[in-house]
Amino acid sequence: MSETSQTSPLIAYHARTRHRFGAYAEGPGQLDWDAQPEAFRRYPGAPLCELLLTGDQFERRYGELGNPPKIAIAPHLASLGTLLELAYGISAWKSWGPNRWALRCNPSSGNLHPVEAYVLAAGVPGLIDGLHHYDPKDHLLEGRALRSPDGARWMAVGLSSVMWREAWKYGERAFRYCQLDVGHAMATLAYAAALLGWRVKPLAIGGEALARLLGLDRPVDFPPSRFSFTEAEEPEVLLAIEAPGLQAVPTDPVAWLADAFWQGMPSQVDPAPGYRWSVIAQAATASRAAEGALPAVVFPDNPPLPAHPTTAGAAQLIRQRRSGQRFEPKSTLDKADFYRMLDATLPRPGMPFDTQEAMPAIALLLFVLRVDGLPPGLYLLPRIPDAASELPAQLGAGDGRFAGRCAVADVDPDCPTHLDLCLLAALDLGEVQRLARALSCHQDIAATGAFSLGMLADFAGLADDGHAYRRVLREAGLIGQVLYLEAEAAGVRGTGIGCFFDEPVRQAFGVGNERWQPVYHFTVGTPVLDSRIETGPPYPQRQTEKT
Ligand SMILES: Cc1cc2nc3c(=O)[nH]c(=O)nc-3n(C[C@H](O)[C@H](O)[C@H](O)COP(=O)(O)O)c2cc1C
Repeated sequence: MSETSQTSPLIAYHARTRHRFGAYAEGPGQLDWDAQPEAFRRYPGAPLCELLLTGDQFERRYGELGNPPKIAIAPHLASLGTLLELAYGISAWKSWGPNRWALRCNPSSGNLHPVEAYVLAAGVPGLIDGLHHYDPKDHLLEGRALRSPDGARWMAVGLSSVMWREAWKYGERAFRYCQLDVGHAMATLAYAAALLGWRVKPLAIGGEALARLLGLDRPVDFPPSRFSFTEAEEPEVLLAIEAPGLQAVPTDPVAWLADAFWQGMPSQVDPAPGYRWSVIAQAATASRAAEGALPAVVFPDNPPLPAHPTTAGAAQLIRQRRSGQRFEPKSTLDKADFYRMLDATLPRPGMPFDTQEAMPAIALLLFVLRVDGLPPGLYLLPRIPDAASELPAQLGAGDGRFAGRCAVADVDPDCPTHLDLCLLAALDLGEVQRLARALSCHQDIAATGAFSLGMLADFAGLADDGHAYRRVLREAGLIGQVLYLEAEAAGVRGTGIGCFFDEPVRQAFGVGNERWQPVYHFTVGTPVLDSRIETGPPYPQRQTEKT
């Protein structure tokens, strides 16, 4: 990577934050769990708008999400409550002995939840026009910047990251995890919106303008003494909500807020931070979006994804989604379910991939362990044209280890040909398990499920476009969210894996080109539930309201 890392600080950051067999990326030597940064930010002093818990009112089958509901749903407090609950709300409180922790509909590396969500709304019945901060703990909106109505009707969601929440635990590698989390958070919004028949589209806005729009650069709220790395929120992305009756987001939303009345002060995230990881702030600065249009996205030509056969409701699956902690090592996955999950990861126009800010750039390297009717081994799902044309011949070319590679559809008539799934090498189950476990930081979950995978990203665009780094990591989070929900729909469970050994992954698959870099791992299997952990309702203080 040496040549390119001199031209791109992000490629250098990625190289620097690799985990190696001999040493993990730079991080804190020890953690004081009692001094964990606060997971929920509030804006005391801001007026509150309590949201309804009405997800069940809009429930419909997961398999129907590709189509709008029979009766169009307009944006109002009830539907907005559903959108935010199913995208970022709490899904359960867990407890074990004296410990109690919240789980949310969006997953997060280490359950640290760096992502904060803001709603910009004009003309939504029941909500004052302006900027609102979403508080997932109490499921309410805090009015940050309120203004008088101008007759317009539109809505957008802005996301930011409190990067310190991840950096506190993961040190220098944390910037990667924040972006993966943002990708998951973009996808959770797209799925929740689809339940309502709404769509989510990214908007072109520069990082500085987004910081201004979300109030993240206000010296009065984040004074220099506190506008330090630990308290700051990094501007991430602005997403337009397309819903019945809504107009387009104004071209200059910052100007729209110019006369707004700002209220509330941000609560403190960490009163006594212990470490400094300056490379994270550097990576954030180097990868901020510039002003200007987003690159055009042209999706590869894939047939439409068939409706999922499950009868389970979408809200139900979104709320029950969890990360598998342990897998039943003898369980197998149906081949049809496996092919369906892979198919769902293919980039297509429509939800959730239309939240993507640029051309898809990720291929999947698969460790097939226990899929009925398929030999265990290493496989490639190219997903994108460049990977399809380059990787099958390139992988292992140095030593010919994949000389026997073949198209799975040629030997298995059940395999959809458009998957372009390639068997690189059939191996003993024990050998695949050994590899999968070792490469995912020796985590058993990577080896005891039905399959696990590494996401290999095309870094070609990074050399002259720093924001491309955020985009590839977010795409990985997006794919991860597809797999989480598809696993639940198939009656199994997924887990995102941010901890993997970067170069050993490339070596195991014989990736001969610096252009392709691993960014995220994932695993799917039959979960073993831990009966010692108790589960409580997400909002015990509230009844489920009916409107
Ligand atoms: C980007 C990312 C990386 C993750 N990495 C790991 C990992 O390496 N190992 C693991 O066991 N879980 C991992 N997880 C799962 C999280 O620990 C899990 O999402 C979090 O504890 C919240 O639990 P939930 O997913 O059940 O809501 C990861 C999740 C995300 C989103």
